[in-house]
Formats: sequence, structure tokens, C-alpha cells
Amino acid sequence: MIRIADMDVVFAPGTPDENIALRRVNLKLDPGDFLTVIGSNGAGKTTLYNAIAGTVQTAGGRIFIRENRPGGGPAGERDITREAEYKRARYIGRIFQNPLLGTAGRMTLADNMMLCHKKGYRGLKISLTKSMRDRFREHLRSLGMGLENRLNDNVELFSGGQRQALTLLMTVMSKPSLLLLDEHTAALDPRNAEMIMDMTLRFAKDYSLTVMMITHNMAQALEFGNRLLMMDRGEIIMDINAEEKSKLSASGIVQRFRDIKKRELDNDEMLLG
Ligand SMILES: Nc1ncnc2c1ncn2[C@@H]1O[C@H](COP(=O)(O)OP(=O)(O)OP(=O)(O)O)[C@@H](O)[C@H]1O
Ligand SMILES: [Mg+2]
Repeated sequence: MIRIADMDVVFAPGTPDENIALRRVNLKLDPGDFLTVIGSNGAGKTTLYNAIAGTVQTAGGRIFIRENRPGGGPAGERDITREAEYKRARYIGRIFQNPLLGTAGRMTLADNMMLCHKKGYRGLKISLTKSMRDRFREHLRSLGMGLENRLNDNVELFSGGQRQALTLLMTVMSKPSLLLLDEHTAALDPRNAEMIMDMTLRFAKDYSLTVMMITHNMAQALEFGNRLLMMDRGEIIMDINAEEKSKLSASGIVQRFRDIKKRELDNDEMLLG
């Protein structure tokens, strides 16, 4: 579970380039929610992820989390607004558009999985035991790509689709309380994009994940998940639940967007007199 209260992100504050990238954002996710997030370029989608993951500093507001792992901290909500990015990485998983980003190409598959295993625990030394190797193999087998036989291969030998599948698997294996997907199928060919999307849905269900998925594909945004957010100019301007979403079409969303914009324009005109 995650809760964001009145969050602002401002780039280059107090300079002529000042840019309010997030404006008073409020959002509460329930465990098991699968949100699709849409919005035009520069709307603030990635910035919202960066703020949640601790990659950018917030100018105002609070972020709270309730971790879903047993023994993962106090039972109640925890304020993580000031927590370092590497610590949040223990319970917030993140996947990017570029399939090369989630894995280290010059390292073997086994070493990549080890690295992921100790993510968020700086300096901790863990060596690869036989039982870990067996467990990695078992997980890799579930991908159905034959990667369980390639633990000693450098990951740079794998295709983009295979690397994104690995990133997804490694991220999910750490049982994140929140999984942030930032257009994670957009750089793949249609067949691999579909394969990764299927895998995402399967993992989300099997591991009861809470997911936010940014996509520029309106059909995807409508088809998947139980909730849809639209962002515009640093604000969440639509938050549509499963029931409403099932009745909406892409053109319906566009029409809603136009209505919101028109109301904004009318308000501006009224203010200007
Ligand atoms: N590190 C940064 N420094 C300065 N400005 C930034 C930074 N990151 C993002 N911005 C600005 O913040 C605004 C929101 O950007 P963001 O990347 O969140 O958009 P987005 O919705 O993810 O867009 P896209 O669909 O193109 O990925 C943009 O005006 C962008 O230029
Ligand atoms: Mg983005």
C-alpha cells in the first residue's frame, strides 16, 4: 500500500527555468491495485515514479508505505518521504523502457540474479550457494525461455525481450510492495511486447503485486488493470475505477479530457473577466 499526500516536485526552483513538474498530487493505492497511467509527453508520469522511488527530491508533501512482507517493519504506515533511494529499492521495484537498463550486460546471469538478491543491502556479502543456484534455475524455468541452462552466460548475449523478461523476473522475485513500470514494453517488437505484458499480468496475479504501469498505448491502458489515471501538466486529472473503465472506450477518454480542458479554459476566462 502506498499513499501520497499533497506532493510537489519543482525543478530549478527560483530560477527562470523553474518547472513545477508535480502539483499537489494525492494518490492512495490499495494492496493488489493495478493502475494504468496515461498522459501526454511531459505530463509528469516519470517524475511521479522518480518521486516515489526517491530519485528526485520532493518540494512538498509526504509519501507513506505499508510494506507487505512479514517482518518488513512496523505494521502501520511508514513515512518514507526522506528515505534514501537505495533503501526504497528494497520494497519498490522499477522497470524502464530500455531493456538493457535492468540487467548488467557484462555480468553473468547468475551474478545478475545475485546482485538483485542483495539489492538495497549495501556492502552485504552473500556468496552463491548451490541452493541459491537451484532456486534461480527454478525461477528461470518459469519464463519458458530456456534461460535456466544459461546461468554462466553474460547477459549481453541475450535479446531485448529476454533481458526485459529477466528484469521482470528478478524484480518480482524480491517481492516488492510496489512495482513501477515505465512504458516497459514500448521498446520491444510486438511479439516480445505481448510476451512481456502476459508475463506482467501473470506475475501480478501470482505474487499479488501492487502495480503502476505507465503506457502510451490507450488500448493497453483500458484493457489491463483495475484503475486508470490520467496525468496532465503535473496533476492527476482522471482517476477511473474498474467499473467505469470497463464501460469506457479510447474516444470516451479523449472526450473526457476535452471536457476537463474546456472547463479549465472557461474558468481561466472567467478569472480574466
Ligand atoms: N531531472 C529533471 N530536471 C529538470 N526537469 C525535468 C527533470 N525530469 C523531468 N523534468 C521535466 O518535468 C516535466 C515532466 O517530465 P516527465 O519526464 O515526468 O514526463 P512524462 O509524463 O514521463 O513524459 P513522457 O511521456 O515523455 O515520458 C517535463 O517538463 C520535464 O522536462
Ligand atoms: Mg516518462
